[in-house]
Amino acid sequence: MAETKTDIAKKGLEGAIAGVTRITLINGTEGRLLYRGYRIQDLATHCTFEEIVYLLWNGELPNRTQLEKISGDLREIRTIPPRLISILKEIPAQALPIDVLRSGVSVLAHFDKETPDNSPEANWRKSLRLVSQSATITAAHHRIQHGQEPITPDKSLSHVANFLYMLKGKKPDPAVVAPVEAYFVLLADHDFNASTFAGRVTVGTMSDIYAAATTALGTLKGPLHGGAAEAVMEMLPHIKGPDDAEAFVDRTLAAGQKVMGFGHRVYKTRDPRGTVLKEIYFKNVKTDEQKMWGEICQRIEKRMLEKKNLNFNVDFYGAVALAVAGIPIELLTNLFGLSRIAGYCAHFMEQYSDNRLIRPLSQYEGPAERDFIPFAKRD
Ligand code: COA
Repeated sequence: MAETKTDIAKKGLEGAIAGVTRITLINGTEGRLLYRGYRIQDLATHCTFEEIVYLLWNGELPNRTQLEKISGDLREIRTIPPRLISILKEIPAQALPIDVLRSGVSVLAHFDKETPDNSPEANWRKSLRLVSQSATITAAHHRIQHGQEPITPDKSLSHVANFLYMLKGKKPDPAVVAPVEAYFVLLADHDFNASTFAGRVTVGTMSDIYAAATTALGTLKGPLHGGAAEAVMEMLPHIKGPDDAEAFVDRTLAAGQKVMGFGHRVYKTRDPRGTVLKEIYFKNVKTDEQKMWGEICQRIEKRMLEKKNLNFNVDFYGAVALAVAGIPIELLTNLFGLSRIAGYCAHFMEQYSDNRLIRPLSQYEGPAERDFIPFAKRD
């Protein structure tokens, strides 16, 4: 029995306001998402990822000089330490790319002289390295996993274009860069989501920013969070065709399982990012197979609304939109992380700027106080 009864937060901290932020606003009942006051739809249509990094970290959209500076800074520091490449080569072949990204980010800390320096200036520079080099880690590991040598970053390319170049080994078509860039913009921040919040807790102890990013990426991995897009792609082959979509939903729900890519803790209506990604998906479908996925997705969407009144979230069409852009399924969680790391850094810098240890209480419901039983008397 609990010793004291106080107000307990809802399970999963649902509805609890855990802190103040000036970065991102989510209105879950109206389905609105704003970065620093700007509508996500406008940002996804008009902005590069570099502009979003600047906006999230600075609070304002960059002018030409500011954009050139941040883009140049990110380009200059893309190369990861050769010893990190050697470590990536030693990692067992079956390792999950998101786990390798988490480990790689953690290892970066050992090569950075500024790791223990939590000043705003050092944290800015380390944030640039985190955004820039996390993309290099993912691309390098992907190639190593496929028996290929990592590719040297190309300074003439934007962050997203260079990532695709390092992944595939050839300069990407702008028509492929555009949907991936929009994805990076759409996923870059989302207020106190599980991984960002976990990272803020790490910052709250005055640990370093690499430690916080490692925490966050470990939290992102789960299928209830960043791992959902891969789970969507694993789910689709279980559907025999468009005519099986409704029956698939019914079977899944009857088995007490979740249909991946649906539901959200905060959005009680459509996730605005999902709506943009749906448009992007249908704009880019080419093959008959991709058209068929589209039909399946729409039928699942309709059935989930009828049966559970649940809308699709960012991961549903996000998964298929990235697949159409040629992103391997096993990298979908990484893509989420490579974008969200911009938001992580914004939140970490915000937390450092006005920090207090994050340390909630729990309600104890274990055994009451009792006398110790010596080892000899425990049979
Ligand atoms: N499929 C089927 N039912 C779902 C569902 C889904 N994807 N998401 C939620 N529900 C149902 C639950 O079964 C529960 O129903 P009940 O009240 O009849 O038991 C109810 O909706 C509330 O679900 P719950 O898991 O408690 O909501 P939550 O706020 O804790 O979780 C998510 C939010 C996102 C974790 C949850 O919707 C989910 O697991 N979705 C699938 C994974 C996913 O797409 N994650 C990415 C999120 S961006």
